[in-house]
Parts: sequence; C-alpha cells; structure tokens
Amino acid sequence: MQAFSRRASAEGKTIAFVPTMGFLHEGHLSLVREAGRHGDEVVVSIFVNPSQFAPGEDFDSYPRSFEKDCELARKAGATVIFNPRADDLYGPNYQTRVNLEMLPQHLCGISRPTFFRGVATVVTKLFNIVRPQIAVFGEKDYQQLLVIRQMVRDLNFDIEIIGGALVREPDGLAMSSRNNYLSPDERRQALSLSQSLRKAREQVESGVTDAQRIMDTAREIITAQPDAVIDYIAICDPEILDEMTCIDRPALMALAVRIGKTRLIDNMMLTPS
Ligand code: PAJ
Repeated sequence: MQAFSRRASAEGKTIAFVPTMGFLHEGHLSLVREAGRHGDEVVVSIFVNPSQFAPGEDFDSYPRSFEKDCELARKAGATVIFNPRADDLYGPNYQTRVNLEMLPQHLCGISRPTFFRGVATVVTKLFNIVRPQIAVFGEKDYQQLLVIRQMVRDLNFDIEIIGGALVREPDGLAMSSRNNYLSPDERRQALSLSQSLRKAREQVESGVTDAQRIMDTAREIITAQPDAVIDYIAICDPEILDEMTCIDRPALMALAVRIGKTRLIDNMMLTPS
C-alpha cells in the first residue's frame, strides 16, 4: 500500500482516503463519492480494528461482507481497497498508542474509555500506510471527526480532513453497520433517536433555549420505548464538547442509546433562529 501511494504521489496524483470497518452502506458510500471529488486515487480501507473494541463489546460479531463491500466501494469510485489483517497492523510486540487529553473525556469516551485511543492509533497507522493528502470522515461519528481533526493538527499530519454529512434511512434512522443487529421491533424503537433530535430542532426553532428542557423531552421520547436504555443525551459546544445550558449559539445535540443489545449513536446541530 505504501509503495503504491509513494508511486502515485510521485506521478503527481492526489490520494483521497476513506477509512471504514466495512459492511458498507450509503453513509460510507457518500464519503467514497466525496473522496472521488478530491482525489485521483480513492483508497477505501476495510479493517475491523480490534484496538477500538473493549472486552465484551461486539468485535467478534461485528458484521462483515468483504466481497460485497469491494463491489459497492468500486461502484462509488474507489480505485483501491486496502484490507490489512490484524497481525499486519499489530505485531506481537506492539506498544505505541495515540492518546488525546480532552476530547475523549466527553460523550462516547465516558462509557467507552479506550475507544478513541484505539481509533486515533489505527487512523495514525492507516494515514502512515496510505499516505493520503485528503481523508474523509462522517459527521455521524461527530466526536470521532473532532478527534481526528485535533490529532491531525496536534501531530502535524499533512492531510486535509473533510467531514461528510450524516446519511439517514428514509424514515430518519441514522445509517450504521450496527443497524444490522436490530430485530424489526428494535428497528422501530430505534427511530426514537432521530425523532427526539428532530423534536429538539423544532423546539429550538420555536424559540426554546433551555438545554435541560430539550434533553428532558428527548429522554421522554426515548424511554417510552420498552427496550431503550440511554447512555447519554448531551447538548454541547460543537468544537470542544463542553456542556451548554443555554442554546444561544449553534449547539451539538448528541445521543447514545442502547436498544436491546445494540448501542446506537446519532447527533444533530441545533441552531437558534
Ligand atoms: P465505520 O463505522 O465503518 O465508519 C467509517 C466512516 O463512515 C466514518 O467516518 C463514519 O463516520 C462514516 N459513517 C458511518 N455511518 C455514516 C452515516 N450514516 N452517514 C455518514 N457517514 C457515516 O468509524 C469507523 O468505521 C472507525 O472508527 C474507523 C474510523 C474506520 C477507524 O477504525
């Protein structure tokens, strides 16, 4: 992969990169298409990264569909699929991790304390292997996008990070490989995430600025589902993720909710009129 990228760069080609864990859906593919607008070569990595899963999380059951992924990625404009094995990336004496100080102490980092360390580490490795000039990440994983942007600034990666809009199913559910775990009944209950965000946006548009009131409404909508357990509901600063009590400027509303065994996340910007 490195040799390919070195050659492509030497030929004056731009490399745009989309890291994924596979089981590709329209959310991923929108990023691949975006990458195609920026790069001559579009590299898509498919790697279920063990270091971002904690013991007891869904690493073993994470859905995989490599052949189909290759076809979908190619159709969306990928010119290279990079599919390393875990042993290739993490040798027996592997020791180095990339840690951010502050951003991981919010939202998903609280219930998944080693998650962003795993993400920052693998993305650093992938950046060094793929050597892109541009990399595209989805706003679906908003905190992850912030972590990557921060890491790129802090560690002087010469890579432009582009954010891709969150892609939803027609009924509002944020697309996710993990939606595959949901039974039809859970799938219905999972709509409460996007519904509560839409409701929050309506409240803000009609003049509500009290973040607590908006979060309380969301909590009501979600806890009305029999199998929903809230991990967090937060309204926070869209850059540093500190809590906001008054929505007097654009705020990020972010949710993580377990529906049965499946942990889902979603988010939306709230902009006061
Ligand atoms: P994965 O969950 O496969 O997501 C790969 C990329 O697709 C991420 O940038 C994610 O934000 C984006 N994505 C997923 N669902 C999306 C949706 N509905 N709309 C828009 N973009 C969406 O995120 C990871 O993998 C991993 O943590 C990774 C960055 C590859 C590191 O292992």
